[in-house]
Amino acid sequence: MMKTLVLSTEKEDIEKAGEILKNGGLVAIPTETVYGLAANALDSQAIKKIFIAKGRPSDNPLIVHIQKFSDISPLVKNIPEKARILAEKFWPGPLTMVLPKSDIIPKEITGGLDSVAIRVPKSETARMIIKSANCPLAAPSANLSGKPSPTKFEHIAVDLKGRVDAMINGEDCAVGLESTVISFCTEVPKILRPGGVSAEEIRAVIGEIEIDKAVLQHVENLENVASPGMKYKHYSPKAKIVLSELSFVDFQNLFKENKKAKALCFDGEEIFLETESISYGARYDSLSQAKNLFSALYETDQKGFDFVYARAPKKTGVGLAVYNRIIRACGFDVLKPKCKIVGLTGTTGSGKSTVAKELKKQGFPIVDCDKITKEKDTYSPLCLKKLAEYFGKDIAVNGELNRRLLAERAFVSKKETQKLNDICFPFIMEKVIDKINKYKENKSGVIILDAPTLFEANLDNFCTYLLVVTADINLRCERIVKRDGLSKQEAMTRISSQHNSEFFVDRADFVIDTSENEYIAQTNQFIKQIKED
Ligand code: TXA
Ligand code: MG
Repeated sequence: MMKTLVLSTEKEDIEKAGEILKNGGLVAIPTETVYGLAANALDSQAIKKIFIAKGRPSDNPLIVHIQKFSDISPLVKNIPEKARILAEKFWPGPLTMVLPKSDIIPKEITGGLDSVAIRVPKSETARMIIKSANCPLAAPSANLSGKPSPTKFEHIAVDLKGRVDAMINGEDCAVGLESTVISFCTEVPKILRPGGVSAEEIRAVIGEIEIDKAVLQHVENLENVASPGMKYKHYSPKAKIVLSELSFVDFQNLFKENKKAKALCFDGEEIFLETESISYGARYDSLSQAKNLFSALYETDQKGFDFVYARAPKKTGVGLAVYNRIIRACGFDVLKPKCKIVGLTGTTGSGKSTVAKELKKQGFPIVDCDKITKEKDTYSPLCLKKLAEYFGKDIAVNGELNRRLLAERAFVSKKETQKLNDICFPFIMEKVIDKINKYKENKSGVIILDAPTLFEANLDNFCTYLLVVTADINLRCERIVKRDGLSKQEAMTRISSQHNSEFFVDRADFVIDTSENEYIAQTNQFIKQIKED
């Protein structure tokens, strides 16, 4: 066992770390993604120590970290134009580019490949250390091979003690999972590992890219994979983890059947689960999930969990990276729903009903919440009484609801709309659940739950998938004017009494934009995706 120095992020300590690295030593350093185990990238002997300290297979190549873009030149043969554009946009940051390597890169780094992975980290501490060492630093994540990647100093303090020359007691990692790895060694640039920069962000800058099939699928060890790192068992805590793609309501039921199971859930869900649980971020905020996932996996170890059901993140944006890590942590053990319940929602005037009609035409059963809202028997005498108490006696005369008057009073503000919802939802909900149960055995294996106020009614807890329909705001206004005979201003008031488009789009697994009128093609694309999912 060697003696391990614990260093701070003060100037003298950064210089000490630089000295150690220059002399061929190992230093664990914070970056904005995860903690890295760094060594001089141009020193073969130092690199070999990394593999020993981590217990890492030596054919799994390392990422080389540089302080600034211009330091890249000696390390690569050439820089394709698109790589240059990405560097400009995302460096410093959580993006790693795989490029043809120059001769000064030792073969120990690349595991024999003729390409090298390079990134400029955003963490100030990391860049100060590279500058102080005055050489590029090879650094894999600082976990022991197979374990979750460390995102806080506490995560490495015990495991690496006695295995490295020094470790920096630095900041918690802001991104929380590793960089996106994109290769420029193929005709079309290819994402080998999703990470802190999303595929959508990259596409927006350089156009067409591919995503390696190993990102979401299990690839056999012996198969030839583009990114060797993808073939190993990864990110696993001690507990057996099973990923649940069920709705939250069905997720809750798992713990009734299996009393010993614990939960990895989203913020705020803990109190609704009859078991001990750890949350790993907000349900509709992939960035917060990215930041907390590894930390939550460490916590399952600390708490001594044996068996855990985990809630599934969505697969869009940075969510794809979260999904990629969690599916490896559970060894691809996924619980799929027998029937997929698709919440169909969106802003008013977006064309949701048109999409619903198309889905119905294609054979999917629809639970139409709007229709249920309009059905007379939904408004029981008790419901009418509650509405009259709040919105005025003239709302219901002789047991007959005056819908026009109610709309006038309820859609004037978010607060009034909320009140309407609070009163009616329990009554509507009962009917919705009945219908869902009735359709559960249908042969398409999918139910469409068409609900404009899906989130307000917490109906998203019944869904396994969210389909959002959206359109340009002026177009929506025009459609409402035409459809409901309102003035432009009345239509705008109705639009602004709802959540805005971003609110819906942020929550969606799939978005259909009807501004361009090719909604049928988009609907078919959605059907294809849900069938493959
Ligand atoms: O955020 C990160 O990237 C962190 C921090 C420390 O910078 N580092 C990191 O390194 O995650 P590591 O070694 O755990 O993962 C490196 C990944 C592996 O999946 C590896 O297979 C891939 O990058 N990789 C490295 N060089 C490659 C190459 N020449 N071709 C293809 N994949 C490569
Ligand atoms: Mg790693």
